[in-house]
Amino acid sequence: MAQREQWGSRAGFVLAAVGSAIGLGNIWRFPYMAYENGGGAFLIPYIFALLTAGIPFMILEFGMGHKFRGSAPKVFRSLNAKWEWIGWMQVVVALVISIYYVAVIGWTINYTGFAFSQAWGSDPKGFFFGDYLGLTGSPFELGGIRLPILAACTLAWGITWLAITSGVRKGIERACKVLIPLLFVLVLVLIARVVTLPGAMTGLNFLFQPDFSKLLDFSVWADAYGQIFFSLSIGFSIMLAYSSYLPKDSDINNNAAITVFINCGFSMLAGVMIFSVLGNMAHATGQAVSDVAGAGVGLAFVTIPAAINTMPAPIFVGTLFFLCLTMAGISSHISIVEAVSSAFIDKFEWSRKKTASLVCAFGFAMTLIFTTGGGLLILDIVDHFINNLCILGLALVEISLMSYIVGLNEIKTHVNATSDFSVGTAWKVFLMLVTVAILGYTFVMNIITDYGTPYGGYSTQDLISLGWSILPVAFILSLVLNKRQAARSFARIK
Ligand code: ALA
Repeated sequence: MAQREQWGSRAGFVLAAVGSAIGLGNIWRFPYMAYENGGGAFLIPYIFALLTAGIPFMILEFGMGHKFRGSAPKVFRSLNAKWEWIGWMQVVVALVISIYYVAVIGWTINYTGFAFSQAWGSDPKGFFFGDYLGLTGSPFELGGIRLPILAACTLAWGITWLAITSGVRKGIERACKVLIPLLFVLVLVLIARVVTLPGAMTGLNFLFQPDFSKLLDFSVWADAYGQIFFSLSIGFSIMLAYSSYLPKDSDINNNAAITVFINCGFSMLAGVMIFSVLGNMAHATGQAVSDVAGAGVGLAFVTIPAAINTMPAPIFVGTLFFLCLTMAGISSHISIVEAVSSAFIDKFEWSRKKTASLVCAFGFAMTLIFTTGGGLLILDIVDHFINNLCILGLALVEISLMSYIVGLNEIKTHVNATSDFSVGTAWKVFLMLVTVAILGYTFVMNIITDYGTPYGGYSTQDLISLGWSILPVAFILSLVLNKRQAARSFARIK
């Protein structure tokens, strides 16, 4: 079997890991999560989740990928052949994410173009939901494919395919070396522009002033944990695959901490950018910050365009904003699809080109559903269940397995052997007790809440077919993939 590919340099790996972590989750999702959870109230559970779960779990995943040098199914098989299906389940969930995630990238690509002429006009809400998405009344009322979205999604899938077929070093690392530094520069330029706008400070106060009463609300904690796992790309096969390409003597602990801090620092920057804009909008319209934004997906595509309309230099701010979203989204999409592709390459020893082409072609075909008039509604349901059940559930299974069945000592010894700073008892306690307890509680409460109150007011049939079914279907698929005849070198693992 050919030798495993490797990152060209430490900086190259960190940029790729950061490129995976920083994505739509930071610019599109984090601000609306913070907004929906009372602004500053969200930051305390978020930072708590970052320290107790984000960093420890990132170290664990980097350690596992690095030690067993493989994608998720190979890593779990290396622990014990009977755990391979867990890796496949993570891969199936990553595949689902790659399919709808790209639709949002499609919107950001289109909006980068729209920003040149503020094509959304004076009614960005009507434009987004009506003229642009052609939103229908229910998820299964598809209403036809929207051509601009289709074209943009085709472009996004094409870029991902190109990066992955070009290889780890020549494709993914090279793309992230350009995209990520540029992304930081653009976001800093944007922030320099928007924090000086009138009212910006009111927006920032809303983001940074904690409301301690909210800490008693479990859903704020659930959102914070869900956001950390989604944002850091942990628990769904990505960081296992990325760390499998690290050279043998890499500093695991430092790389993990750096990746987490850069990602979360970037989320804060995105928060500052968005809330400055919201503060300015509140100032311009004479409303409170808590009243200006429509929550959820609309924040980036309705509120920001509305705010851009009221700003000086709207073309500059608008195009930069959507360009940032696009770049952040593409570098993450590449990592999600790489995690899926590497699993098939490892198990079946298919060539990189054949695998990436098959995965991208299948993903693209499935994305078509999200380019229709019902696409946003389907996306809303799928994204909710992916984050609230699938990612949390898989993270819970992975951490519990490692903590209570496999044991953390082997990985601890492995990561400490090559790292500048060592992890010890605190790392184990955070994973075994704090993270498992909070994840377990959150997972169960999410099920109870979603069972009791149908999410988003959708019909039970829509929620069952597009949401509740994801986990069982992923489970069945993981068993099927687990059973497939593997290439000899893979079958030999334990
Ligand atoms: N980690 C990626 C994001 O935040 C998936 O968008």
